Formats: sequence, C-alpha cells, structure tokens
Amino acid sequence: MSPEAKRTGNVDLAVNLAGIRMSNPVMTASGTSGYGPDFAEHVDLEKLGAFVTKAISPELRKGNPPPRTVETAAGMLNAIGLANLGLDRFVAEIVPFLQTVSTPIIVNVVGHSIEDYQTVCDRLDPIDCISGLELNVSCPNVADGLEFGTDAERLENLVASVRPLVKRATLIVKLSPNVTDIVQTAQAALRGGADVLSVINTLRGMAINADLRRPILANRCGGLSGPAIKPVALYCVDRVYTQVARDAQVPIIGMGGVYDWRDAAEFLLAGATAIAVGTALFVDPTIPMRICEGLATYLRERGLTSTRDLIGQLG
Ligand SMILES: Cc1cc2nc3c(=O)[nH]c(=O)nc-3n(C[C@H](O)[C@H](O)[C@H](O)COP(=O)(O)O)c2cc1C
Repeated sequence: MSPEAKRTGNVDLAVNLAGIRMSNPVMTASGTSGYGPDFAEHVDLEKLGAFVTKAISPELRKGNPPPRTVETAAGMLNAIGLANLGLDRFVAEIVPFLQTVSTPIIVNVVGHSIEDYQTVCDRLDPIDCISGLELNVSCPNVADGLEFGTDAERLENLVASVRPLVKRATLIVKLSPNVTDIVQTAQAALRGGADVLSVINTLRGMAINADLRRPILANRCGGLSGPAIKPVALYCVDRVYTQVARDAQVPIIGMGGVYDWRDAAEFLLAGATAIAVGTALFVDPTIPMRICEGLATYLRERGLTSTRDLIGQLG
C-alpha cells in the first residue's frame, strides 16, 4: 500500500493463498456455481478473487436420484452424489473456456479410490490456467465404504499419495466437519503435504416428511449448508488456525454460511486468508462483489489498509 493510497483511504483487498494471487479474498464454494460458463452468464468472473469449480472425478457421474436438495431452516440439504461431467469432457469442453478467464481457477477433485484422485490431479496439474486443485475428501472409499476425510490416517495417506503428482498447482485439502476433532484431520492433511486447507465442507443431516413418513431426500441424508452452519464453521476455522495453521503458516479458505461482508470479516478474523460463498449464490450470484465492497468500507472506516490486517486478529 502506497502512502498515497493510505492518505486517500484506498484499501488493498488482495491476498496470497500459498502462491495463488487473488485480487480480493472472495471465491465461490465448489458445487454452487457449476464449471464457470453458466455462472459467467450472471457474474463477471474477473471480479472474483478466485473461481472454484464443481467436483470432477475420472468418469462422468449421474449422481443420486431426485429429490437431491431441500430447503431447511436457515440453510439447505444436498445429496447431489457427485454428479459431474467427468475428466475427459471437463478437459475438452470446459478448460478452453477457463483459459479465457484471468481470475485464478481452482478445480475441486473427487474420487472413490486413491487412484481416482491421482488420475484427476495428474491430468489437470500441467494445465496452466488451473491455479489450485482442491481435494473433496468427504466421499466414501469404495474399498471400505469409509469417508477419506473422517479419519486422520486415511486422509494423510490420500494426500501423500496425490502430493507427488501436484507439482505446479497449489494443493488444497477440504476438511470435513463430521469428525470428533478437526485439528487431527488438519494436522494429517499437512503431514500429507497440503499447501492450503479449506474449512469446512457440509455437515451431515436429514429432513423428514411426516405426512409421507419418508426422508425427503431420495438419498435419505445429505450435506447441510448455509447460515445454519456458520457458527460450526467459525469454530472449525478458529480451531484449525490457532492449533495448526498459524504456526505452520498454511492459509485457510473459510466457508459455511457466508452471506455478507460481516460474515466474511468474521471468518477473516477467525484466521481465514480467503472466504468462499456457496449456498448464498443460489439467492444472489452477485453476493461476492457486494462482500468486497462491504469489506473495503469496513477496513476504511477502521483506518485499516489491507485484508491482511484482519486475518487472525481476534482479540
Ligand atoms: C448444492 C451443493 C453442492 C456442493 N458440491 C460440492 C462439491 O462438488 N465439492 C465440494 O468440495 N463441496 C461441495 N459443496 C460444499 C460447499 O462447497 C461448501 O463447502 C458448503 O456448502 C458450505 O458453504 P455454504 O454454507 O456457503 O454453502 C456443495 C454444496 C452445495 C450446497
């Protein structure tokens, strides 16, 4: 920040996420804004700090049968079941579009085996326009039916198996809140070689129709997101930051119920370097831009000059 900028009250929203240079700290959360082309019809992607794609697995997946989403008090449940284009179509149909975007692109990666994650990361890492690969570890391993992200040893093994294949992009691991102590899995992800931690994925939940005496989601249960999970997400970011990430100097992407600049400021204060907006995009896809404006005003009014002045600054 130049002395001139300081005098005129300009603020610098830019952050650096382990090598990903973002013009502001606000990104999309995976699965809530597609692969880019559809979202770009509503929002100028260049105004985002980063764009995060929906998950990609090696094969095309149809996902779970409907109903796959349901609104709940202060949030929603989803059981999309990792429906996605598959790696070949992503590379052929989406990458050419992403190459026209100058905003950093992060691709969310899923799999049902370690080999699935390796296949996707190996193919996407050399593609220049992809700045980061984010591992969604909240899915079951076909080998034993257990989620990769809910056991420290399994998670470390997965991340360590993928790490040698991610040579250029930033390796991000998205932690699940469905654990007894998220500090254990955060430490495991770092032992495996993660550059950045995303905190948090959805919380497991269920909705029931009492008239029909049936679960509302065809999959029976799903992932809870939106304002309902914000206190849990803030708690997880605070725990991961103070117990693991601060000393290790590993940036956190905070998410879970971010709807406005105040939510974003709270996540930054709890220790996040960047924040992702997910469920709120279904209400208004331009929320990320309004968060940036609000954050700039918040900083200016307090005589602060940079987003970095907020990160981890809880009293
Ligand atoms: C409809 C929907 C689809 C999602 N798909 C993915 C996904 O493909 N990969 C992933 O890592 N997270 C996925 N998520 C989780 C979000 O990225 C985010 O972690 C979570 O929703 C919390 O943020 P929010 O409260 O702002 O939505 C999905 C969430 C929703 C609501």
